[in-house]
Amino acid sequence: MLSDTSLPVIRATLPVVGENIQEIAKRFYQHMFDARPDLLDGLFNRGNQADGRQQQALAGSIAAFARYLVEKPDQLPDHLLSRVAHKHVSLGLSPDQYEIVHEHLFWAIVDVLGEAVTPEVAAAWDEVYWLMGNMLINQERGL
Ligand code: HEM
Repeated sequence: MLSDTSLPVIRATLPVVGENIQEIAKRFYQHMFDARPDLLDGLFNRGNQADGRQQQALAGSIAAFARYLVEKPDQLPDHLLSRVAHKHVSLGLSPDQYEIVHEHLFWAIVDVLGEAVTPEVAAAWDEVYWLMGNMLINQERGL
């Protein structure tokens, strides 16, 4: 669950992040594949990138996860992640790749939202990302 410090920050910024999450996801993938073209050919599916399906899947899952943490602060939404974990395992993802996604995703958040991303806001969304990331890494390890 989220810390007492991050919970109100996520609650307050969820609307603006939710409104912009498609654009954030689009810029995140562009930036990541510019830096790591090997991932586009080796891991991701070009067809799913071309029609924007993967952008929507990632954006939708982060927004849904954050909404759940805010609406049910005493629960962890394990069930929201099991389909993603199975997909990741079928592709042979490794835990260190979560750092790569983190780096480019947070670059995109700042690129889209600009000064709204105060250090406090960045820290709260960082917590959401790693809560999700670590839950996925754990589930994937167990599969
Ligand atoms: C917190 C971090 C992450 C979240 C929330 C997330 C979310 C998702 C979601 C929702 C899907 C779609 C699953 C489906 O088809 O049902 C997906 C697929 C996928 N994810 Fe992740 N993911 C994360 C981290 C990563 C990392 C670190 C990598 C590796 C660099 C990665 C690579 C992929 C790939 C290759 C697919 C399949 C995409 C395709 O079909 O082209 N993901 N992820």
